Amino acid sequence: MKALILSGGSGTRLRPITFSSPKQLLPIANKPIIFYLIEKIANAGIRDIGIIVGDTSDEIMAAIGNGQKWNVNITYIHQSYPLGLAHAVKTAQDFIENSKFIMLLGDNLFSMELGPIIQNFDSSSFNSSLLLHKLEDPSGFGVAEVKNKKIVRLLEKPANYVSNLIITGVYLFDKNIFPAIDQITPSKRGELEITDAIQSMLENGKNISFEITEGWWKDTGTLKDLLKANELVLSGPVKHEAVIKNNVIENSTISNYVIIGKNCRLLNSYIGPYTSIGDNTFINNCSIENSILLEGSRLKDIKGKISSSLIGKNSRITGLKKQSPDISFFVGDNTEIYL
Ligand code: G1P
Repeated sequence: MKALILSGGSGTRLRPITFSSPKQLLPIANKPIIFYLIEKIANAGIRDIGIIVGDTSDEIMAAIGNGQKWNVNITYIHQSYPLGLAHAVKTAQDFIENSKFIMLLGDNLFSMELGPIIQNFDSSSFNSSLLLHKLEDPSGFGVAEVKNKKIVRLLEKPANYVSNLIITGVYLFDKNIFPAIDQITPSKRGELEITDAIQSMLENGKNISFEITEGWWKDTGTLKDLLKANELVLSGPVKHEAVIKNNVIENSTISNYVIIGKNCRLLNSYIGPYTSIGDNTFINNCSIENSILLEGSRLKDIKGKISSSLIGKNSRITGLKKQSPDISFFVGDNTEIYL
């Protein structure tokens, strides 16, 4: 088995932060999203990982390197234009060769380990297997219609309700996916959809199984989902806390479910739950919760409680004398705000 992670895509729904950072490198509990995926693949025993990169290839390659850190071999595969998930898979055909493979979307996060579903697929004769997740509001996702425990139809973001089982960014394939991709044409959004390629496999009599997620699953494509993923990871079984070394914390309260990076100075402040504070951050006289602060940000003298916020790298927010009580931010890198 090999693994493929899709890390092209421009992250338009996460602008402005994605103007300066690929969405797959945004930190959740101070760790880039894509690192969680590499860890899960490595934990499942797969050593050969292909990463599809696009415009943001330099940053992705610099952050991940050759994979030594996880004891895996990383091959970078360049996708010239973001023409859809199926196009990305086709681009990786030379890397995949005849192997079975797992494909993950680089902006998805989930709590379950991948070992069992990989083993089930590897030892089966199924041509594809999908990880599905039950969602009350499935609009905005690909969905699977299931009858008598079998997938009977797959649709990419149908206009009307078809099923509450959405297609997560976890797919398993054998080599039959490649001729299926050759059969499809671009969707309304102008992309070659992987959902359409798998539907084409179904129509050609290929066998597709599915599993339902255990635990939580999140597409981190919006600020709200990113903050929710941050909350879920911080409140999960792995305990995250302040790196005490080189940090100065004075006259401040730090609640549970907080992670604080290196070389930070927190003075006269309250750091509430579900907050990730990156390295080299300075916070003085502020109250903050349910937020992500990227490295090098400086917050000072802000009267209202900051919540549900993402503050970009090296940004500076400084309170002046008159301020309104409640504030939320979605601030890109290198920004300055005076309130
Ligand atoms: C993509 C897939 C969709 C799937 C979703 C999961 O959507 O096309 O089928 O449900 O990822 O995150 P996109 O994020 O490209 O809109």
